[in-house]
Amino acid sequence: MPTILALETSCDETAAAIVRDRQVLGSIVASQLEIHQPYGGVVPEVAARAHVTAMGNAIAAVFTQANLDWADIDAVAATCAPGLVGALLVGVSAAKTLAMVRDKPFIGVHHLEGHLYAAYLSQPDLAPPFLCLLVSGGHTSLVQVRGCGDYTILGGTRDDAAGEAFDKVARQLDLGYPGGPAIDRLAQQGNPRAFDLPEGKISLPGGGFHPYDFSFSGIKTAVLRLTEKLRAEGRTLPTADIAASFQATVVGVLSKRAIACARDHQLNTLVLGGGVAANSGLRQQLQTEAADCGLRVIFPPLAYCTDNAAMIACAAADHWRQGHRSPLTLAGQSRLPV
Ligand code: KG4
Ligand code: ZN
Repeated sequence: MPTILALETSCDETAAAIVRDRQVLGSIVASQLEIHQPYGGVVPEVAARAHVTAMGNAIAAVFTQANLDWADIDAVAATCAPGLVGALLVGVSAAKTLAMVRDKPFIGVHHLEGHLYAAYLSQPDLAPPFLCLLVSGGHTSLVQVRGCGDYTILGGTRDDAAGEAFDKVARQLDLGYPGGPAIDRLAQQGNPRAFDLPEGKISLPGGGFHPYDFSFSGIKTAVLRLTEKLRAEGRTLPTADIAASFQATVVGVLSKRAIACARDHQLNTLVLGGGVAANSGLRQQLQTEAADCGLRVIFPPLAYCTDNAAMIACAAADHWRQGHRSPLTLAGQSRLPV
């Protein structure tokens, strides 16, 4: 049962966690939200500098929370890709330095693999094979999981990620950043059938549509046209109805394709991961629809849907058990397939 210290700095959260096997002993997430809010999005250079400032305190705080010291730690892990390269380098450099100074193994973890492992924190006995629907601000993928490091991508987005679509539509509705949680809250007061929005289908060369791929740029443009039209007519935007219709369309398409993909590949467990897995509409719809077709659905705990280091530590623990170690020459990479 390895005890792992992990650092996560791929975007705008400075996170540190200590996980023993699949049990979280400490988890700190220092958000940079207020720093980036005036810009309406994450500024990479600002993010990297803020990670440098926050990292020391985050590490000290997680040791205090877990009530452990270095003698208890078996390995140091960090998210090494993908993400903002300057931001990633802060976590990777800190983790490699600590590993060297404390004479511990270092394990680099792919950020999406971390999101995939977050569900193990709510269901420690979860075991492959299963299908994972990864829905974050940067990615939307259907991943067949056969074991640790054994992944096949069965579907994905051709343009915007699901979380990115939430953020862009929220900006159109002046709901601020990040948009996902704001749309989620507002949608609960609106009518999901108020507006008919496009599902975003990917045509296949021989006719028909790709069963597991997504496209969210069309729905984003449809919302833009709708808001422009309503504003031009001098009408007050029915923001709750737009948010509810948008969320229902995105949730509908994510659920439908994930369930079809699991059924077609004879996988009876569907695991969710990524920030959009926190969406209340997606959680409700998948629970109901999956139960109807005998599919077991596992969501990560809400706190571990968005970026955190506990999910990175959980993935690193599995790699540790497999004997995987990363060289101290490993650098952060902005892009890397899972
Ligand atoms: O996984 P994550 O923290 O970062 C990435 O790896 O991208 O995901 C962040 C994304 C953002 O786009 C945010 O708007 C979205 O997850 N998000 C949500 C909700 N909470 C966060 N989207 C819909 N509903 C939510 N409740
Ligand atoms: Zn993420």
